[in-house]
Parts: sequence; structure tokens; C-alpha cells
Amino acid sequence: MAKLTVEDLPLEGKKVLMRVDFNVPIKDGVVGDDNRIVAALPTIKYVIDHGGRAILFSHLGRIKKEEDKPGLSLRPVAERLSNLLNKPVTFVPVTEGKQLEDAIDNMKNGDVLLVQNTRYEDVKDGEYVKRESGNDPELGKYWASLGDVFVNDAFGTAHRKHASNVGIATNMPGKAAAGYLMEKEIKFLGDAVDNPERPFVAILGGAKVSDKIGVIDNLLDKADKIIIGGGMAYTFYAAKGIKVGNSLVEKDKIDVAKQILDKAGDKLVLPIDNVVADKFNNDADTKVVEGDIDDGWMALDIGPKSVEEFKNVLKDAKTVVWNGPMGVFEMPNFAKGTLEIGKFLGTLTDATTIVGGGDSTAAVKELGVADKLTHISTGGGASLTYLEGNELPGITAISDK
Ligand code: 3PG
Repeated sequence: MAKLTVEDLPLEGKKVLMRVDFNVPIKDGVVGDDNRIVAALPTIKYVIDHGGRAILFSHLGRIKKEEDKPGLSLRPVAERLSNLLNKPVTFVPVTEGKQLEDAIDNMKNGDVLLVQNTRYEDVKDGEYVKRESGNDPELGKYWASLGDVFVNDAFGTAHRKHASNVGIATNMPGKAAAGYLMEKEIKFLGDAVDNPERPFVAILGGAKVSDKIGVIDNLLDKADKIIIGGGMAYTFYAAKGIKVGNSLVEKDKIDVAKQILDKAGDKLVLPIDNVVADKFNNDADTKVVEGDIDDGWMALDIGPKSVEEFKNVLKDAKTVVWNGPMGVFEMPNFAKGTLEIGKFLGTLTDATTIVGGGDSTAAVKELGVADKLTHISTGGGASLTYLEGNELPGITAISDK
């Protein structure tokens, strides 16, 4: 990519501002899945091994009122990072002011410091002012003033235009570089979409077709097949005149679904059969039906014939991109379709297999096949924006080489 990378920057003795995406699940003060922290380690290690002073910024969750702050402190992340790096990490519980500036002044080469959740800046004196999320120009300028160079490794946040990614970068022209994770994500997703080894099959799932219209539109011109599963499949059923019973349908998207079907021809692969339930509950009565779904029943997972059909489409693929579950994955009785697809992807050792999005990633991890896949993206919204072919402001703001 024609952007500066961390290896282009002077690091020895420099205050290296780093935007990472440490937006990780935290329960009772303990970090759950630390994949995003682990994924940022190569860049952090490179910076400190080359004598840089790593000053890390990240958001965590969404802060809209003062009471949101205590539960969204990054302190537990500092502890996990310290364990992973096997060295102390200074946590600064504020996002601006003397305490932060003094802590930075006291750093030595190779030290690591984590600044409090950047979205603390979204609420000031009880007001929802969105200084971070709204890319307040003064905030980006202030944060930029704290360092010598900037490394953006937060691919997961690249679809956001925040002060801590876009703001800092625009205030450090010629000194804002991509980290290794950012480079890796762009390489895998970019190659898959723009230069795929064929056949290229996309698997799209999730509840709403409205979330994926842009992706389908963009991929229709690029993929050889697009497999559709999850709740969004039933808006396509409705568009085809198949009865959907009480399944999830976005009525205002039926026309768009029709247009997509017309354009797609046989590129779009819909479920043949479904697991239907008499209520939205893991303990509901269920049965497998092909085609029409009767009133009083709702489709909550793809059925066994669909699984076989999808595997058949996937078996010769050389590039696969998967985003979104095939059913209501969080309910064990409706997770089978998603798990079967995840398991099968693990067997496609000759293909480049890329997974993005929370549930599909959780599925491949639960199955223990994550290490058999080529790339698990750390970006949910960011990878979707990329697949839509849309600009990611966080990447655009990085300095050109
Ligand atoms: C994510 O988890 O997708 C990113 O960290 C962005 O978080 P956000 O949707 O709260 O902006």
C-alpha cells in the first residue's frame, strides 16, 4: 500500500502515539476475548524494541453519559497488555491534562503507556459533546502535540472518523503511519475483494438485509457466488414470493431484495430448507421445512439440505470471505448451520479463507478451527465498510509514502 508504515518512521527516543483498537469485551473488570490486544502486539513490540516510547490510545464501548465511564475504563486492558508483553504498562486514568503530560514526560525508551478510554472525551461536565467521536479539531490537535510520530494500528476503528485516529493523523502530516495489523487487514481483505483467486465465494449472514445491501451490491460484481444465510435470507424469500410465516422480514427492503435478485441471477445462493420454531426461544418446538414457511413458525437457522448445498458451492472455492451467522447463533439449538459452515471452512486448506464479524468469528473459535483459516479480521463494522467498497477514513488519513 502506498501509505507510510511503522518501519518508515524514526522511533529511537521518540514519543510514538499509537491508535490501537482495544474495544474488547470486559466483564466484572476482567478482559474476555483478548484477540484485539494480541493482534496489536507485533506493532507495539516493534516500536519498543526500536527504542520508541509507546503511548497507546483506544476507545472502549460507547460513552453517552457520566455514569457510563466507570464501567468503561481501560484499566483492565492495561493489566492484560502488561501480562502479554511481560513488562509494566503505565495506565493513565485521564485523557488530557497535567497528569497525562507528566506521565509522558517521565517515559523512557521502550516504555509503554495506555491513556484512558478516548471516548471519556465524549461526555464533559455531564454533557454529551462527542469530542472524540465527532473528531473535535482541538482534541486531535492536542493529542498530536503529545508525541513525535503517529502509528495507526486500529483497523477495527478505521471506519470511524474520530479525533484519536483521523484527528491525530491530520495533525501529523508526513508522520502518520500504518501499523502491521492495519497493513495485514488491508492486504487480506484487499486481495480477496480486488484480486481474488477464483472461484471467489462470499458468505453473508446476520439478521438484517439492510446492514448488508452495500456489501452485496459491491460483491455482486466481484464474487462468483454469494451465499445468503441468517435472518436476512427471509427478506429474499419474501421478494421471491416464498411464504415466510413469522420469520424476520424487512418489508421496506423487499423491493431492494427483488432488484438484487434480478441483477444476481444464479450468483445468489439462498437456503433451500430451514429450521423453523414456534417461538423465538431456544426451547421452542422446531421442525425442518423446505420452501414455504407456515404462519406461526419462524426460521431461526438454515436446514441440513442448505448446509449441504452451501458446502457444495464452497468446496472448490479458492477465496472465501465470511461475514455473519447462518442462524440465531447465540441460541444453541439454532447454531448448527453456522457451526457446520465454520467447520467446513476449516477443511478448505487450499483456499484463502477470511472471516469477519463477531458471531462468525466466535463460531470458528468455538470450533477450534480459527488457526486453520487464513485470516480472522479484527474489524466488524470496518471490514463490512471495506467489503462495501467504501472509504475508511482512518486509513485515508494515514500519510502517503
Ligand atoms: C468495533 O468494535 O467495531 C470497533 O471498535 C468500533 O466500535 P464502535 O462501533 O463503537 O465505533
